[in-house]
Amino acid sequence: MTLPTTAPPTAPQILARCRELVRPALAAAIERLHPWPAEMAAFSLGWCEVGGKPASGAQGKGVRQALAVLGAEAAGAPGETGVAGAVAVELIHTFSLLHDDIMDGDELRRQRKTVWKAYGTGPAVLAGDALFALALETLADTANVHSGAAVRQLSGALNDLVRGQAEDLLFESRPWTGPQAVRRHEYRSMADHKTGALLGCAAALGAVLAGAPSPTVTALGRAGRHLGVAFQAIDDVLGIWGDPAVTGKPVHSDLRRKKKTFPVIAALEADGPASRHLAELLTPRAPMDDDALRRAAALVEEAGGRSATVAEAHRHLELARTAVHSVPLAPPAVDAILTLVPFLVARSV
Ligand code: IPE
Ligand code: IPE
Ligand code: MG
Ligand code: MG
Repeated sequence: MTLPTTAPPTAPQILARCRELVRPALAAAIERLHPWPAEMAAFSLGWCEVGGKPASGAQGKGVRQALAVLGAEAAGAPGETGVAGAVAVELIHTFSLLHDDIMDGDELRRQRKTVWKAYGTGPAVLAGDALFALALETLADTANVHSGAAVRQLSGALNDLVRGQAEDLLFESRPWTGPQAVRRHEYRSMADHKTGALLGCAAALGAVLAGAPSPTVTALGRAGRHLGVAFQAIDDVLGIWGDPAVTGKPVHSDLRRKKKTFPVIAALEADGPASRHLAELLTPRAPMDDDALRRAAALVEEAGGRSATVAEAHRHLELARTAVHSVPLAPPAVDAILTLVPFLVARSV
């Protein structure tokens, strides 16, 4: 007789379970804000239209909140233990996107106008500040003896995130080629800071709130950081070859703004006619028109920049897996984390 087996949950099911667990606490936190930033936050999360009318628009994937829940479960606690951390990282993520879209001049996110485009730049800065403060308050006020350690973990990640955004913005004015060009190791540092820090913090926070020993916290944090670098590399790919109707974000905006993304760095480092043509196309000071942007995207691919980026992402996924396996963790949560890992790189949104 064969016993009935249940299929392990898929990545979308894992993300949905964690989202449902976190949503009431996230909504309750946002309700504590002044109604104006609260509306902008709800708009950004796809929960309402401009003016506050309820809506069910495109939402974020909820990767960071899921990692916080799974980090607590991996440390042997119920997922509920990680919820305050999950709320905090999702609020910080939302804050960072609101400000990032201003810095990057992007007008589309999650299939709708960015908050600065819908409400104005000043209000969007304020909404970001409100979310930042709310995240820290949520963690500090949580009824958990480890809340102080959790706040310290989050503050460290925030400093790193700011450092990464500083590097990202400064790289815009560096040349594409020559001794001042941005190298792969500089890209990795930037991506580790701007994106890896918050993903690492998410996974680590769950374990901190669960009272896990420090090697467990460190291992989960390291896994999240590698996941973050892989995630950012794929985000760079989607920023060049993604379909805005699917990603909900603009395409070619990184190229237009001279962002030093991994596909372009790798393409320019390759020695061949496509990389030389690409360098000639990117170097003039005048803004690139749509035709030049399409040709640049094709040359990046021809010079091997796209495949090199996918390989880089896989390398970091492997490092994430190694970190997860380096400490004893609860098997179901490990399975869930290892299910999310390839999904985050195979994604098209
Ligand atoms: C976007 O993050 C910003 C990056 C770090 C690349 P996500 O792709 O996780 O954004 P949402 O929350 O799913 O929209
Ligand atoms: C992601 O920045 C990191 C933060 C928002 C802190 P990007 O500028 O690369 O992400 P997208 O592509 O706008 O989501
Ligand atoms: Mg951006
Ligand atoms: Mg940016």
